[in-house]
Amino acid sequence: MSGRRRVAVTGTSGRVGRAVAGRLAGCHEVIELPRAAWDFADPATVDRISELDFDLLVHPAALTSLELCEDDPDLARRVNAEAPSRLAELCRVRGAGMLHFSTDYVLDGSRPGLLDESAPVGPVSVYGRTKLDGERGVLAQGGCVLRVAWVFGPERPAFPDQVVAKALAGDPISAVADKTSVPCFSTDLAGWVEDLIDRGLPHEVLHACNGGEPVSWLGMAEVVLDEMRARGVLDELPAILPQQLDEVPFFRAPRPRHTAMSPARLAGRIGRAPRPWPEALRAHVGHLLESRLCR
Ligand SMILES: NC(=O)c1ccc[n+]([C@@H]2O[C@H](COP(=O)([O-])OP(=O)(O)OC[C@H]3O[C@@H](n4cnc5c(N)ncnc54)[C@H](OP(=O)(O)O)[C@@H]3O)[C@@H](O)[C@H]2O)c1
Repeated sequence: MSGRRRVAVTGTSGRVGRAVAGRLAGCHEVIELPRAAWDFADPATVDRISELDFDLLVHPAALTSLELCEDDPDLARRVNAEAPSRLAELCRVRGAGMLHFSTDYVLDGSRPGLLDESAPVGPVSVYGRTKLDGERGVLAQGGCVLRVAWVFGPERPAFPDQVVAKALAGDPISAVADKTSVPCFSTDLAGWVEDLIDRGLPHEVLHACNGGEPVSWLGMAEVVLDEMRARGVLDELPAILPQQLDEVPFFRAPRPRHTAMSPARLAGRIGRAPRPWPEALRAHVGHLLESRLCR
């Protein structure tokens, strides 16, 4: 279903919301709904959204800090579970599309290897449990859910940006070696969203990440440093100190260990395979270095 549409996008100060709103602005009329004016901690916000005129709601806004979710489970439930469910109901009643974002952290993390959408769920944190309830609420109303993971991109610094900054500063680099996923480049994600909207949103869960094999944060850091060396920014590769997930001092909330997703179903829906994560990560590092060196 192509053509210019009125698309409301939440969470537009965040990584995913910024990327998607920017991309869709090229082909649709975008109504940005940042938290400053549209806070889902307040249930009345959904009622105010019902007064807006839109054809499609894209909803990446969420309480994404695992630690904040553990500290305030009531807030996490309102923002991550109740708001998306009520927004999806609103969309169904008015005949608008709803595209919601969820997470690989709804999976239990016990199975290494690539997981498709039929993999059993079993969240181990408040964040994961409330996001799963949000998914279920949206699906029950006929919405579409994109599960994303380890998102990186130009909108907001993420793990790869920290590795670049530490390598340039000559600081020690440590990275978790015993937890795996498949990363997602926000710029690519925004393109998949545009394609899904053009083709008509399916009423299902899609694993939305780049292609390629499961990787740890240590493996991602190795690719980042290799790209820096290939571009002549580093003379030699710095050592990376391997860390165990249980050793990271600021991770108070439990995290699932193995949540690598396969984007095969997404590839079928958009008619092309997402490029492998190392290619996307190298492109991001290249852009990052160019923007840092041009400052
Ligand atoms: N980033 C990842 O690696 C990752 C991984 C798995 C799943 N996801 C999912 O992907 C989606 C987008 O995440 P992201 O990477 O864009 O996260 P992010 O960068 O943390 O952005 C979250 C967005 O939600 C907004 N928000 C937070 N609390 C809110 C509230 N009470 N009311 C309204 N808006 C609120 C934030 O606003 P402020 O900026 O004002 O706080 C921000 O715009 C989320 O559903 C998340 O669960 C992300």
